[in-house]
Amino acid sequence: MKSIAVLCSGGDGPGMNSAIRSVVRTGIQEGLDVYGVYKGFTGLIRDDFKLMDLASVGNIIQRGGTILHSSRCREFREQAYRGMAMEILRKRGIGGLVVIGGNGSFNGAHLLSSEHDFPVVCIPGTIDNDIKDTEFSIGFDTALHTAVDAIDKIRDTATSHERTFMVEVMGRSSGLIAITVAICTGAESVIFPDRSVQLSQVADNIKRSVERGKKSSIIIVAEGETQGLGYTYQKELQEVYGLETRLCILGHIQRGGNPSPRDRFLGAKMGNMAVKALLGGEKRVVTAIQGGKFKIVPLENCLEKRNEFDEGLLDLLSTLAQ
Ligand code: F6P
Repeated sequence: MKSIAVLCSGGDGPGMNSAIRSVVRTGIQEGLDVYGVYKGFTGLIRDDFKLMDLASVGNIIQRGGTILHSSRCREFREQAYRGMAMEILRKRGIGGLVVIGGNGSFNGAHLLSSEHDFPVVCIPGTIDNDIKDTEFSIGFDTALHTAVDAIDKIRDTATSHERTFMVEVMGRSSGLIAITVAICTGAESVIFPDRSVQLSQVADNIKRSVERGKKSSIIIVAEGETQGLGYTYQKELQEVYGLETRLCILGHIQRGGNPSPRDRFLGAKMGNMAVKALLGGEKRVVTAIQGGKFKIVPLENCLEKRNEFDEGLLDLLSTLAQ
């Protein structure tokens, strides 16, 4: 293997730059040519590559986003486009690909790799932290920091005005951001759209805590498949249960910002592992964390989403929110 390529795909996440830097610098140290592919699988199809050097990844470890840019590439779902991508990789003499992304990206990478027997190593990069078989993905920790910081600020104004706020956080079908920030901000309740939403219970909780003298309440809303569901809950809480709330949708703010030390570290370590896995002859694997340890695991094990979390966390939240 003389040359490899690296790309970011799907929703970006803070810490991806650290992973790119690590892939490039490890690859160069191992004597490889390392290409950056712009805009994920889109750049693979359009032949949008850049030969990286040591300086091209200088001064990026602390920056959010991805210097290679990212995309959600619909075309890559079609075999014909994956074939085009493969031709371009072959024409350039590239012998292995590192894909930094989430679940959809892993599936695309798996198809490319298995259809053409081409070596691919995936690095989990998504704020949702919903990839099966790895305990953490790059971006999750920073997203938690950003959300917690924002909610602490909301708590200040909520207390001054003795208000109840709903704060909608990202995470699509995974409620992991929601439950974690709920616990970390001392939220009173959390709503997950994919579980049966018990707004009556939420309203009762809040009313009881106000009666006990609480000066503010925070309800965390997991966004689910559609951003903005918080508006529906806000309306129903007001109209059906007489509970007035203010709503704040944190949205994409959670995807930006300087990566936390933990996300930088994950990027550094996983980028290095990915290059070594390619050089070691791995074909379809993921750099993962299991039992708190870094491991290389089969890509096949990581294709599904991990939506569940420890149900005990819900009990913890209600115990602590009394
Ligand atoms: O997958 C990461 C994520 O930020 C989800 O939490 C969110 O639902 C989605 O991406 C938003 O996607 P987009 O940036 O394409 O609107």
